[in-house]
Amino acid sequence: MTRVVSIVSGKGGVGKTTFSTNLAISLAEKGERVALIDGDFSGANISRHFGLDASSATLNDVVKGNAYITQAVYRHKSGVSVLPADFEDYSLDSNHLKHAILDFLGQKDFVIIDSPPGANKPVQRALEASNEAIIVSRPMYPAVDNAILTKKLANKIGVEIKGVVLNQVFDDHLELRHDIVSEKIGEKIIGEVPHCDYIRESIAHGEPVLHHKPYSKAADSVEDVSHKLLGLEPPKRGPAERFKKSFLRFFD
Ligand SMILES: Nc1ncnc2c1ncn2[C@@H]1O[C@H](COP(=O)(O)OP(=O)(O)OP(=O)(O)O)[C@@H](O)[C@H]1O
Ligand SMILES: [Mg+2]
Repeated sequence: MTRVVSIVSGKGGVGKTTFSTNLAISLAEKGERVALIDGDFSGANISRHFGLDASSATLNDVVKGNAYITQAVYRHKSGVSVLPADFEDYSLDSNHLKHAILDFLGQKDFVIIDSPPGANKPVQRALEASNEAIIVSRPMYPAVDNAILTKKLANKIGVEIKGVVLNQVFDDHLELRHDIVSEKIGEKIIGEVPHCDYIRESIAHGEPVLHHKPYSKAADSVEDVSHKLLGLEPPKRGPAERFKKSFLRFFD
């Protein structure tokens, strides 16, 4: 059965698109058949993360009858089938999302939906089309407060929440302790992605950090979440492994 996983958040800009793209790659590189759909029709960003330009066919072209879905799906070298939306056109509405997913059901092990932020209608539509959700938040009050509303919406719809991924973690005294975030949202923390300049760099290069800097801590954190999603124990990174990685990072 295809697992349809929405990546949601309360607040905008917390890292959903970045996490969705890297999670999709990580799952694909473990042998899963993965589709990644841009479900944020008024803030479509997926194409930029993959370095696609405005001339590439998108879900918008499919909906308008100007392209077949096969023409709009971009096959990333990791194996992920990426279905971008058009960042220059926000005429699509969230009802089109279900239509986009149908083509992948039964064909893929995972459909990852990069959702818009909040607890509004488009997010509701993304959650209704999913059987699982991951909440992305920063470990700061405004993001956590809003994440609680998104969680309530997911609960109302009956989607299984796999947990919370904390992103852009600085690990300083200004941030909420992770156990407090977990208690407030009422979900376990399944990932902690550090604040990492390689992520900004990777977006500028149009290449997700998992490929751009595979030895980075940010890439490791995403790998850990994909292991958990597959019910696998995340790899133990002992001193030898850490030394090897820091060595490779140094020359990267
Ligand atoms: N771990 C990180 N470390 C440093 N910068 C990050 C990290 N994650 C994301 N960013 C930065 O934050 C910006 C916003 O990330 P992203 O677009 O993934 O958020 P989003 O939740 O999808 O936003 P929106 O709600 O607008 O769709 C990125 O352009 C990137 O520069
Ligand atoms: Mg986004």
